[in-house]
Amino acid sequence: MSNMHVGMNVTLTKPFILRCFIISLFLSLPFFLFLFRHLFSPQQHHRHVSIAATATTTNNNNSNLRIRPGYSSYDAYIQRQLNKTLNPRLRKIWTTRDWNRKIPVFARFFEELKEKKLLDKNSKALCIGARVGQEVEALRRVGVWDSVGMDLVPYPPLVVKGDFHNQPFENGTFDFEFSNVFDHALYPERFVAEIERTLKPNGVCVLHVALSRRADKFSANDLYSVEPLVALFKNSALVHVRDVDGFGLDTEVAFRKNTLR
Ligand SMILES: C[S@@+](CC[C@H](N)C(=O)[O-])C[C@H]1O[C@@H](n2cnc3c(N)ncnc32)[C@H](O)[C@@H]1O
Repeated sequence: MSNMHVGMNVTLTKPFILRCFIISLFLSLPFFLFLFRHLFSPQQHHRHVSIAATATTTNNNNSNLRIRPGYSSYDAYIQRQLNKTLNPRLRKIWTTRDWNRKIPVFARFFEELKEKKLLDKNSKALCIGARVGQEVEALRRVGVWDSVGMDLVPYPPLVVKGDFHNQPFENGTFDFEFSNVFDHALYPERFVAEIERTLKPNGVCVLHVALSRRADKFSANDLYSVEPLVALFKNSALVHVRDVDGFGLDTEVAFRKNTLR
């Protein structure tokens, strides 16, 4: 009797287990789809996508602009940036060995922008996230005298204190803004909106960004293609996108702010 009971249980359980298996397969389908999209997403092949700007949301995992998680507060983000920028040993290197190594490279970029008529010796210029101001010194060496840098930590007389999420300048102040620190923006929309606010109509913004490799551990976002950047510049036209070799940053993106209507 008890053997028969066990046998009945086994025959009843087999289809039950099969049904459970099929249901669990169904339930896990979204997970496998997500995994597949994540691993084989076309965004890795960013070099060949068109420049047509499409709306992107920065905190969406499928976006080509992703904010890095892990900052518990805005203060924590600022403190992390300051930890590196205020490091006395690094500041010594930036102002000595790095000084002569980096300035000629920046100067060459700015000469090329002058040739393209995107920068002029009479331009009023700002370098965003300029640290000790090597790019500002380079601008001055190519004849753009009215230039200044801005960073969380000032470095007088080349760099004034300011947060790029809230620039300490009036609307329409600059003809030209350069930055190679877009990846440090916790709020990229704000970073770009501030540039567009402080540029004069027809003013030019040039950004150096990393698309092919991830920027350093102090970065606050990762950019995988130029489209999200183009979409953020709501009041500007894209001028060019070109490859550069700028201290680990591989792409130059230039914009011109629209004239007021
Ligand atoms: C990778 S370093 C670039 C320094 C410089 N542009 C160069 O090429 O030598 C990033 C700089 O961005 C600055 N930074 C980070 N967050 C900032 C913020 N919210 N506002 C202004 N500067 C910021 C840092 O203090 C740091 O000096």
